[in-house]
Amino acid sequence: MGVSGAFLTFEGIDGCGKSTQLRLVASELRLGGMEVVATREPGGTALGTRLRAALLDAEESVDPLAELLIFAADRAQHVRTLVRPALESGHIVLSDRYADATVAYQGAGRGFTSELIAQVVALATGGLQPDLTIVFDVPVAECIARTQRRIASDHRGDRLDAEDAAFHTRVRQAYLEMAAREPERIRIIDASGSIEETHARVMDLITPLLKSQLSSHRSQVKS
Ligand code: TYD
Repeated sequence: MGVSGAFLTFEGIDGCGKSTQLRLVASELRLGGMEVVATREPGGTALGTRLRAALLDAEESVDPLAELLIFAADRAQHVRTLVRPALESGHIVLSDRYADATVAYQGAGRGFTSELIAQVVALATGGLQPDLTIVFDVPVAECIARTQRRIASDHRGDRLDAEDAAFHTRVRQAYLEMAAREPERIRIIDASGSIEETHARVMDLITPLLKSQLSSHRSQVKS
């Protein structure tokens, strides 16, 4: 790991419920006395908030290469100014999306080659990998229905929400393939049930990881 905190990322297709789950995990860990930094991509920094607004504006026409590089710029700023310093201070960093989203959306979704995606990701992250990535898996039709309900209630549809079912199917498939390739780091959770059911599954997954992380941190502090 190289740094003393723990880096957990939450992924999945639009409408999978990861943002709600991240909020629940962050408050539960804070109640347990842990120092938690909850953040997101795009938009985890002040610069990132401005990049996010441009990237997700439904009115904006964004060239796919420009899109790839703006997500990368957002990530470089995020890693270098927020994520790494927080990990070095021993905090638990929970990020709503990270580099796997670029593999899924710009790679499988938009069709950039895996070599180009790997280069751009390596440049932006400086090689920083999550300790654990949770993919919240929900069938595409259910995610589209959830997103439509959200748009109907708060009119908040973004440029990527508007992609068709074939796009979201490729993105979902890419997440499942990544999890099969890296089963230690990337874990899939069935997120098609209730918020409470999914939350219980998430806590079952992360509690053992955080216990070992915190006890190794404590032994470092003692010695
Ligand atoms: P997200 O924050 O999950 O959207 P919301 O808060 O509306 O649920 O993600 C914003 C969009 O950005 C989402 O459609 C996925 C996309 N995205 C990429 O295409 N590539 C990336 O590298 C990242 C981080 C996000």
